[in-house]
Amino acid sequence: MANRIYLCLAHMSEAGLEQKYIKEAFDTNWVVPLGPNVNGFEKDLEEFVNHNDNLNLNKRVVALSAGTAAVHLALIACGVKPGDEVCVQSFTFCASSHPITYLGATPIFIDSEKDTWNMAPELLEEAIKDRIAKTGKKPKAIVPVALYGMPYNVDRIMEIANKYDIPVVEDAAEGFGSRWKGQVLGTFGKYGVLSFNGNKMITTSGGGALITNNEDEWREVMMYATQYRESYPYYQHEKIGYNYRMSNICAGIGRGQMTVANDHIAHHKHVQRLYEQLLADVKGVTVHKQPNLNVNDNLNTPVYDSNYWLCTITIDPEVRIKGQENAYKTIVQGAVGGAAGVIHVADSATTDCQPNDNVEALRVFMDAAGIEARPVWKPMHKQPVYKNCPAYTNGVSEAIFKVGMCLPAGPYVKDEDVKYIVDTIKSAIVE
Ligand SMILES: Cc1ncc(COP(=O)(O)O)c(C=O)c1O
Repeated sequence: MANRIYLCLAHMSEAGLEQKYIKEAFDTNWVVPLGPNVNGFEKDLEEFVNHNDNLNLNKRVVALSAGTAAVHLALIACGVKPGDEVCVQSFTFCASSHPITYLGATPIFIDSEKDTWNMAPELLEEAIKDRIAKTGKKPKAIVPVALYGMPYNVDRIMEIANKYDIPVVEDAAEGFGSRWKGQVLGTFGKYGVLSFNGNKMITTSGGGALITNNEDEWREVMMYATQYRESYPYYQHEKIGYNYRMSNICAGIGRGQMTVANDHIAHHKHVQRLYEQLLADVKGVTVHKQPNLNVNDNLNTPVYDSNYWLCTITIDPEVRIKGQENAYKTIVQGAVGGAAGVIHVADSATTDCQPNDNVEALRVFMDAAGIEARPVWKPMHKQPVYKNCPAYTNGVSEAIFKVGMCLPAGPYVKDEDVKYIVDTIKSAIVE
């Protein structure tokens, strides 16, 4: 295979609209974190999230420099302060929980349910009751996550949140365009987080957005995103704000990407269906799928409608992979998963919670075959940095972490690539 197959590469519109909008920004000298592209991108996003045949949604969107910034601002807008607690899905990327600590608050980690891999509603309720009993205070917010695009059980989570009157911040960073009963994720809670990082469903190179419920909330978030200023001729500050607004250049990319967003989503779903077909008869390998339920038996509206940002599989511990005896024998030097930045070189090749040897061996085997595959996220309650945080667990996320793997799914992944990936998996298995 000449070309390496990546998990999810940025993919620009064939019409080149991204460059057109960027050129416009240069031509009009809007090279700042505000301007026509930012406004236009927000409008496009609002149309996308509000579009619903049955509902009149009036969500307002703020474009930001990152999804992480969106989580941070949503928590601030929920009033999270030092000493507070926030319930967050443990099975996630660190950006769902790190901003809780930026605010001096404590993440309360909630384990997952087996079918969606997302926040288990019954554990959420147990945690809320227990935190109230132990601290005398309610958690300040609830952060469910659409892991790899899969919707959480929106009805149950919203029901519990409403029962205890706790705001929900939906982390739909990976779930752009995923739907629950036909409605876009990120529009159910008080706030919805989107990410347009380079590897996401659509990209602005780096960027994110916060979906808000109304004009007042939108204004408040906008204030916090732009250093929170009062209306004097000089800079007057009564609150601490942030420099989190999206650049007008990045937003130009976003506007172009919005013209292909639905194509991207359709492509990811197509790749998922191919994996499901081609891996169906591979013993010991299971493709993770959305629960197959329809709204009121209406076959056109599924309850769970994942964008399948990344396709994921689990591998039974009994499956033997070529080279398995060498798994974890050497310390990894680079950043597995294409992460940006500098990685601290570990002082050991193993930790006390890691994917099984056969999963690591398959990753290495695929890597040598030119395929980027990655373990699923390590649950936050198993991360050393969070070892002192309360966690309400059922063993589900830890068990999936040991057997799970992410496979390529982006717009550049062609049908023959999926066939090659599946053939590679088959050839890695020792018969
Ligand atoms: C679940 C989740 N939340 C939040 C983020 C943060 O987004 P960003 O990378 O744009 O800061 C990401 C992705 O990167 C994510 O996967």
